[in-house]
This record gives sequence, structure tokens and C-alpha cells, in this order.
Amino acid sequence: MERIEAYMEKRAAEGTLRKLSELKARYPARVIESGRELIDFSSNDYLGLSNDDRLIAAARQGLDEWGTGSGASRLMSGSLAPHHCLEAETACFKGKEDALVFNSGYQANISLIPALVSRGDVIFADRFCHASQIDGAVLSGAKLFRYEHNNIERLAYLLKREREKYREALLLTESVFSMDGDIALLADIVELKKRFNCKLLLDEAHAAGAFGRGMAHRLGLTAEVDILMGTFSKAFGSFGAYVACSHAMKEYFVNNARGFIYSTSLPATSICASIAALKIVAEHPDMSAKLQAKAAYLRKGLSRQGWPAGGESQILPVIVKRSETALNLSQRLRAAGLRVLAVRPPTVPRGTARLRFSLCLAHSERDLDYTLEVMDGLRQFLV
Ligand SMILES: Cc1ncc(COP(=O)(O)O)c(C=O)c1O
Repeated sequence: MERIEAYMEKRAAEGTLRKLSELKARYPARVIESGRELIDFSSNDYLGLSNDDRLIAAARQGLDEWGTGSGASRLMSGSLAPHHCLEAETACFKGKEDALVFNSGYQANISLIPALVSRGDVIFADRFCHASQIDGAVLSGAKLFRYEHNNIERLAYLLKREREKYREALLLTESVFSMDGDIALLADIVELKKRFNCKLLLDEAHAAGAFGRGMAHRLGLTAEVDILMGTFSKAFGSFGAYVACSHAMKEYFVNNARGFIYSTSLPATSICASIAALKIVAEHPDMSAKLQAKAAYLRKGLSRQGWPAGGESQILPVIVKRSETALNLSQRLRAAGLRVLAVRPPTVPRGTARLRFSLCLAHSERDLDYTLEVMDGLRQFLV
């Protein structure tokens, strides 16, 4: 089809074509790719829990007791006891009255947002919100305003100008931004939410586990955030997602969130692994502190070398602007035994192509020092 060929040619010409690369094995902080072991900076398995014996044992027990599939949507016959247990544990972990499990973070966002707002309502979203939040906003039919990243003045201006024209208003933001690794100005957003009578849906996909119970909890703002969502697929090393909210809101989502209603629920293997992960993270708050210390070490070292090392979390972007530069650096890093993703438009805005270093608790001091040594040798590509 002409349309397909034209699209693929354009992407190739721009240097933004995506390709799958097959891994023969992956462990926390390591992958085997094309017969070589690489130090991995490309996964969101921040705490290395995906290979943890306790999660594997829990998943095995789930498999033995419940089999490989859940059988149906939760509203048919797929509401297994482990789902209910995970929801109770998640509510407790996040400090909310109740919780509801979704099959993925993407599915949660595209289901929750259209359940909360529709035509005649309005959404204000940070420009760097994840694609799943934006897709959910578009699906909802509500009017969408995207404000410049972390620009509270602009959000306040838009709220002042637009809020009154619409019925319900929803604010969307991530707490730790997935591609920039920086942190939302949550206290200010909460303040605006109250002043302009909005609801706030906070995506904690990259904060929960990487910052203990998440950023809202850390900042003492749990009660102020109406809807907390997050995933079990990143720091928790498992799969699936959750929304933590009031009991009444959970019941509303059970009745109105289409991704929840019309999809077969997750198998007990993933659910049981998530329960084990929540327990580990709750009992070991030192894990996230160690993870953040590793990220700070790498960030400081790269900055000292002159790289524009950004972020305030376990996600460390080095913005090199041009897609070709990001790709070139990523390939050179790979040749040196490091897997670091070149993130390019349309995933990030034009002119902000970057290397994205994603830190893992399993990265050793030696891994980080070696990475700094390799990056030091690439300084001629500094922009
Ligand atoms: C901020 C954010 N929200 C939601 C998602 C989707 O989560 P999942 O991978 O569980 O579908 C992602 C995944 O990359 C994400 O980065």
C-alpha cells in the first residue's frame, strides 16, 4: 500500500525508524543480544525484581493453583481471589481506600480517562504526559489543552482562561516523567486543582517502587490526589497496572472503564508476582534510596565530563538534539558493550533526541565506572 511505503520511507529518511532487536536472554542490568552480553540501561526493571526468586516462587504458586489463564473478564468469571488480594495490598501500599487492577498501564489510562470526562468537559495535560494518557484524553472526547512541560504559570493561565467554560475538569500529569526523568511540581498542581475545582489523575508508573510508595506519598499529597495510577511492569518487575482511589470511584470504574470490563483479566501468575513485589518494596525502603544514589553517581560523572545529563530520578536523559547523533552514540555504546536507547521523535519532541540511561539497582559500581569511561571516550560528539 502506498500509504505504508510512504510512511516507512519518511521515517527512514528522518532517522526515526523503529526496529525490534531480539534478546536471547535478559537479567537485571544485563542482556544477551547477538551473542554478546551487554550492560543494560534500557529497561524499566528499576529494582531488578523481574528475576527475583521471591517473585518467581509466587508466580509459580499462582500457576500451580490457578493455571495459565484467568478464563474471562473479571465481571464474567475471571475475578480470582489473587486479584482481590492484590487490590487490598495496593490500596494499603498507596494509602488509598481501595484499588482496581488493570491489565496494563496503557489500558488503564485509555480506560480511566474516558470514564472520568467526556464531551463538554476539559482536560489539562502536561505536554510530556505519556502517550497512553494522551490517547485516553483523545478517546474521551473532552477538550484537551496541553501545557508546556512543568510550566505551572502556563497551567494557571489556561485554567483561568478556560476552566469556567466546561463542566468537569481533569488534570493529567506523570509524577516522574518517563523520558526526561524529572519530577512534576505536584504541590503546585494540587493547589491549582483545588482552586479551579478539578480532579487530578497522577501517573506514578516511574515513581512507585523507584521512590518507595511513589511521589505523592513522598510529598505527603496522597489524600489530595483523587486518582493514583501506576504499573506493576516497571519497578515491581511484574506485569499489569492499578488505580488507587476511593471505594466509590473504584465501583464506578468497575461499571464504566471499558478496558476493565471488556478484557480478559490477568492470569494469577502475574498477579501473585505483583503481590510479592509490593511486599518486598514496602519492607525495604532502602532499595529505592540505593537506586537513586546510583543514578546520582552516573549523572554527576557525566556532567563532570560535560554531557548535558538531565533528570532527577533513576531516568537519566542526555539530550543530543539530533536523531542521527543519538543513534550514532547508541551504536558506539553498544559496540563498547552498553545497551543505551536512542530515544527519538515522535516519542520525544523534535530537536530533543536523546540517550536515555535507565538505572537499575543491579548496576554495580564497576558497571557505572565503565560506562563513564566509555562516555568519556565519546566526548567529541558533545553538542
Ligand atoms: C508514564 C507511563 N504510563 C503508562 C505506561 C504504560 O504502562 P504499561 O507498560 O504497563 O502498559 C508507561 C509505559 O511505558 C509509562 O511510561
